[in-house]
Amino acid sequence: MRSILVLGILVFLASTGFEAVTAAKRNVVCYYGSWAVYRPGDGKFDVEDIDPTICTHLIFGFAALDNQTYKIVAFDPWNDLYDDGGRGAYERFVALKNKNPEAKALLAIGGWNEGSVKYSYMASQPERRRGFVDSVVPFLQKYGFDGFDMDWEYPTQRGGVAEDRENFIELLRELKAALSPHGLLLTCAVSPGEQVIDEAYDIPIVAELLDYINLMAYDYHGAWEQFTGHNAPLYPHPLDDGNVTNFNVNYSLNYWISNGAPPSKINLGLPFYGRGFMLDDPLENGPYAPASKPIVPGPYSRTEGFWGYNEICINQTFGTGWTVVRNEYYQAPYAFKDEYWIGYDDYDSLTEKLKLINMYDLAGAMVWSIETDDFRHKCHSRPFPLLHHVWEELNGEVVPCVDCNTPTAYPPGNEKCPHEGYFAIDCTHYYLCQLGPDGEWIVSDFSCPPGTAINIDTQQCDHDYNVSGCGA
Ligand SMILES: *[C@@H]1O[C@H](CO)[C@@H](O)[C@H](O)[C@H]1NC(C)=O
Ligand SMILES: *[C@@H]1O[C@H](CO)[C@@H](O)[C@H](O)[C@H]1NC(C)=O
Ligand SMILES: *[C@@H]1O[C@H](CO)[C@@H](O)[C@H](O)[C@H]1NC(C)=O
Ligand SMILES: *[C@@H]1O[C@H](CO)[C@@H](O)[C@H](O)[C@H]1NC(C)=O
Ligand SMILES: *[C@@H]1O[C@H](CO)[C@@H](O)[C@H](O)[C@H]1NC(C)=O
Repeated sequence: MRSILVLGILVFLASTGFEAVTAAKRNVVCYYGSWAVYRPGDGKFDVEDIDPTICTHLIFGFAALDNQTYKIVAFDPWNDLYDDGGRGAYERFVALKNKNPEAKALLAIGGWNEGSVKYSYMASQPERRRGFVDSVVPFLQKYGFDGFDMDWEYPTQRGGVAEDRENFIELLRELKAALSPHGLLLTCAVSPGEQVIDEAYDIPIVAELLDYINLMAYDYHGAWEQFTGHNAPLYPHPLDDGNVTNFNVNYSLNYWISNGAPPSKINLGLPFYGRGFMLDDPLENGPYAPASKPIVPGPYSRTEGFWGYNEICINQTFGTGWTVVRNEYYQAPYAFKDEYWIGYDDYDSLTEKLKLINMYDLAGAMVWSIETDDFRHKCHSRPFPLLHHVWEELNGEVVPCVDCNTPTAYPPGNEKCPHEGYFAIDCTHYYLCQLGPDGEWIVSDFSCPPGTAINIDTQQCDHDYNVSGCGA
């Protein structure tokens, strides 16, 4: 068993004093695709749109590898840095920790679009690796990041060579040696595909060297195929064969574990997007229906074959004629209308995957990615409905968010606040009184996680049996 809760649930006061945050039982790793800042209209998502109170780890995607020097560089210096009148997204991202000091901010390098070849070249020679590794620590420290996420997709693949497997291990070993003396985390996003895994990763060593493995359990099917299939099916479909046998979340997770990855290091990836097709014949609309074209681009992400959850839910909520099908193999919905067909994840399919995380006692969940959640709550009653759901299923309690915890001011001399500090309302609900600049009392409401109660003596949420009158 992992050591859970207990002293990890200290009530933590931010320097501003207004946010209380409780440490989470499981990770909720939130990837942010920073290019979403360029999306039009309600799809535009800037750093300040992130709600850091429902993430344990915030990962900025992506930095790049310079193909001349083999050092880490900003991918989009104007957006990422303050240099030359830039927007400073790195530092603004790290500053989100002011709203949740328990969260860690990491920088990811690579991703799909960076390809594999540059990384293969960099890792192939000890001097190049050294130059790269030596560039990473000062780069992270300059902007205040707490760790590094190595997203080489993938060693040995996409133009890589067989030696990448060994070189990747050397690279991780050297990165760990450089990062850990500074208390910086090292994580990787890894492939879910059996064939890639066998070629790319020496799993026991990779797992040993990493703090966490972010398992990208999605992109199993998409418009690169000529037939419909789900982006992230939980279980196999009876028609799966040939190259797509074992293309499902359950298989990938079990494969990583049975080949030596400890569950306590795995964050299971959950997609906040779908992959879609244009059906060749609208009357053939099940799995494995002929579909030779990608679904047309959505209005925000503007990418063929891909719709964010925000684009899917808006289209279904405000459009007509969609049929949503939930299939026992996918355990996740697909929806079709005329020739459109899209397989995606929603509240209920995430529930099934989150059950798996709890059942296998994994480190937690990873989500790709927060900027395609319904963050403007166009289709749901609250912002980030999917991310809130992930947090609640894993950690049982909504950490008070900045918006839902707006402190209230009371006049001086009121009986609610005899002095500064915490006051219990009942076993699990309590409030904080702080003196405001004009003698008014600033009052913030909080609640303790399930199984715990507020202990006024220690000013912490503690096991409920430790707090007199609250336990069984
Ligand atoms: C390096 O990247 C630049 C910009 O993408 C490209 O024009 C150039 O060909 C690349 N050089 C090598 C050696 O790959
Ligand atoms: C299946 O995989 C093999 C080996 O990787 C490849 O040569 C073949 O083109 C793939 N077939 C399809 C239909 O993708
Ligand atoms: C999930 O994977 C495990 C391990 O491979 C397997 O035993 C189990 O049958 C799978 N579940 C389903 C429903 O396929
Ligand atoms: C649904 O998506 C299609 C394709 O992007 C678009 O043409 C249509 O306007 C959308 N409908 C709604 C109601 O958003
Ligand atoms: C609460 O209970 C735990 C476990 O029973 C114990 O170790 C701890 O000291 C207690 N804390 C307080 C403040 O009494």
